[in-house]
Formats: sequence, structure tokens, C-alpha cells
Amino acid sequence: MRSGLDNVIAAETVLSHVDGEAGRLIIRGLDLEDLAGHATFEDATAMLWEGIVKSPDDLKAELGQARVHAYERFKPLAANLNGLTTVEAMRLLLSSIPDGAHDREPTDVLAAAGVAAAFATRVTQGDDPIVPDANLSHAADVLRMIRGNAGDTEEVTAFDTYLVTVMDHGLNASTFAARVVASTAAALPSAVVAALCALKGPLHGGAPGPVLDMFDGIEKAGNADAWIADALKRGERLMGFGHRVYRVRDPRANVLKTTVAKLKGRANRIAFAEAIEAAALRALRDFKTERRLDTNVEFYTALLLEALNIPREAFTPVFALARTSGWIAHIREQETNGRLIRPQSRYVGTWPVKAA
Ligand code: ACO
Repeated sequence: MRSGLDNVIAAETVLSHVDGEAGRLIIRGLDLEDLAGHATFEDATAMLWEGIVKSPDDLKAELGQARVHAYERFKPLAANLNGLTTVEAMRLLLSSIPDGAHDREPTDVLAAAGVAAAFATRVTQGDDPIVPDANLSHAADVLRMIRGNAGDTEEVTAFDTYLVTVMDHGLNASTFAARVVASTAAALPSAVVAALCALKGPLHGGAPGPVLDMFDGIEKAGNADAWIADALKRGERLMGFGHRVYRVRDPRANVLKTTVAKLKGRANRIAFAEAIEAAALRALRDFKTERRLDTNVEFYTALLLEALNIPREAFTPVFALARTSGWIAHIREQETNGRLIRPQSRYVGTWPVKAA
């Protein structure tokens, strides 16, 4: 019995594969490095959603219309978001989507995730939500709706690259949650909400905001080695490091570092991040000798989303809107090929004592 199900194969998939020893991520037969930065979010989603949508162009048009519908659904809910964090607000908005099988459901839910992330970000920051523009690409429109101003070509390309980089990643905790819910025939919107609930934890998709908190702490202290050593001595985990499957550097970290380097004016911040990364890796080697811990996707996610002027409270919602593409592909695969997921537990409690 492994309490974290480490190395347990719980599904067969044609969608993605994580090779933790080689530091390789394959999505639908392509290495991540050959997909991210080469394909738009619509291209990559259409590839992942083979059999669900006809073409990237159809998906782009349908997503545009669906974003407008999602905004209309969410508009009356703005007052209900008071007092919630951004990711809690996104959860509330997505929970308002009724379950009901219809052809456009995958596209509607993917569009809704983008609008919900932007709407939740704006409203929880005290700003008015922005109406979608159905003619834009998903990346361009979501970036515009989050920030309130349109990105230039470089920024939209960088954001698109981010969305593709994190869209799918084997049977991670949130995807597993989605597949468990889908296996009960509970319908796609419910399975996506379950996945979001699993993603929001700091051990999974909640890490990039805290990565920037670490940057701030180190900047203030002025000494990365001392700050990191103190954190480890207190028993804290360094956010943006370690992974259940990767025993080497997460390949997504390299893709995102290259992406942020293409944005103008980032050289100093990248040099600062590299110094922190090097100090953290040195310290983790010394403190955690029995376990190889390396940089994961969240470290350079934080740097990239910061460079795009996305508020840190929105980092997890932005991750979620991208991963919704992968969740939906897994939900459909589970619904088509899978069975009810119902493992067993081993009872270690006391047994009733019966009189003889
Ligand atoms: N900093 C310090 N120590 C760590 C870290 C870290 N980032 N990650 C693991 N460890 C240590 C643990 O304390 C533990 O040490 P111990 O045996 O002395 O108690 C040992 O390494 C093994 O840790 P586990 O929790 O068993 O490893 P697991 O595979 O469950 O952890 C996880 C994976 C949750 C990602 C972990 O590395 C972590 O908490 N990282 C920080 C949070 C983070 O960056 N999350 C994003 C992950 S990427 C993603 O989901 C998109």
C-alpha cells in the first residue's frame, strides 16, 4: 500500500506521458519542446481533443462565442464573490454551470474557465470585469480580460506558450480527480470543478504565488543562502522545487525560462531568479541528501506570469484555465474507455468483539 499511490498505474491514456527519469513530457506524440511556442492554445487543444472538435479554426470561433455566453452567465454572480480569494471565486463561477450533455459542452466549459479566471481576478481585486471579444484568440482575450489592457504580440505569444506548456501532464492529482468524478458519470462540468478543487492546493497548482513571496523575502533579506537555509531549518518546503514524478529538472521549467527571456526588460529579474534557483538547489542537495529535488514548472511560471503583469492571486486560476483543456480530454477519455474508479482501503481499525 502506497498512501500517495506513487508509481501506481490507474489509467491508460493517449494524451500525455511524463518520463520522470529523463525529464521528458510527451503530449499526443510530440515532445513538449516541439509543441510549446510552435502551436497556439487552439492548435494544441484541437490536437488533444481529436474527435471532439473539427479544427483549430472551428475551435477558435466556437470558443469566442462561448466566452461571450459564459460572461453573461457570470455577470449576475459578481456580488457573490465578495470576501473570496480569486481561486475560490473562480470555483464559484464554474460551479454555476449546469451539468447536461450537449455537443458544445467541452468548448463551453473551456471558454468558461478562461472567462471565470479573468472575471474572478478583476472582481476580487475590486475592478470591473471586462466583456470578452469573440474575435480574439483565447490567449489574447483572456490576457486582455485579466489585465484590462491588450497584450502586444510578444506578450500574447508568451501567454499562449504558457497555456500550451501546462495544458496536460499525465495523471497528476487534479487530472486524477477529474477522472474519478467522470468515472461516476457525473458529467463534465462537475468533473472540471473537482479538478480545480484539487489543483488549488499549494502542493499542486497553488505554488507559483508563494514562489514570488519567496523572491520578495530573499530580496528583503539580501542573502539567498541564509534565507533558504532558515526556511529549510524551520521545516518549510521551497516552492517551485521537487516533484512526485520528475527526478531531474522539469522540462516545462526550461520552456518557460526561454519564453520569459524573450520578453523585453526581463534580464535583471531572470538573473535574480537564476541566483535563487542555484542557491536553492545547493541547499536542497545538502539538506535532503536522500531525495533528488530539482526545479519544477512553478518556479519559472511565477517569473513569466509576473512579467506579463498578471497579479499573483490569479496565478492558480490562470494555470487552471490552461489545464482545463487537458482535464476535458481526460474526462472524455475516461467516459469513453474507463470504468467506475473505486479502489479498496485496508482496514486497520479495531474489529467488533462478539460474544461467543
Ligand atoms: N522543499 C523542501 N523539501 C522538500 C521539497 C521542497 N520543495 N519537496 C520535497 N521535499 C522533501 C520532503 O520534506 C521530504 O523530506 P523528508 O523525507 O525529510 O520528510 C522529501 O523531500 C520527500 O517529500 P514528499 O512529500 O514525500 O514528496 P512528494 O513526491 O510527495 O512531493 C511535491 C512532491 C508535493 C511537489 C513536493 O516536492 C513539494 O511540496 N514541492 C513544493 C511545492 C511545489 O512546488 N508544488 C508544485 C509542484 S508542480 C505541480 O503540481 C504543477
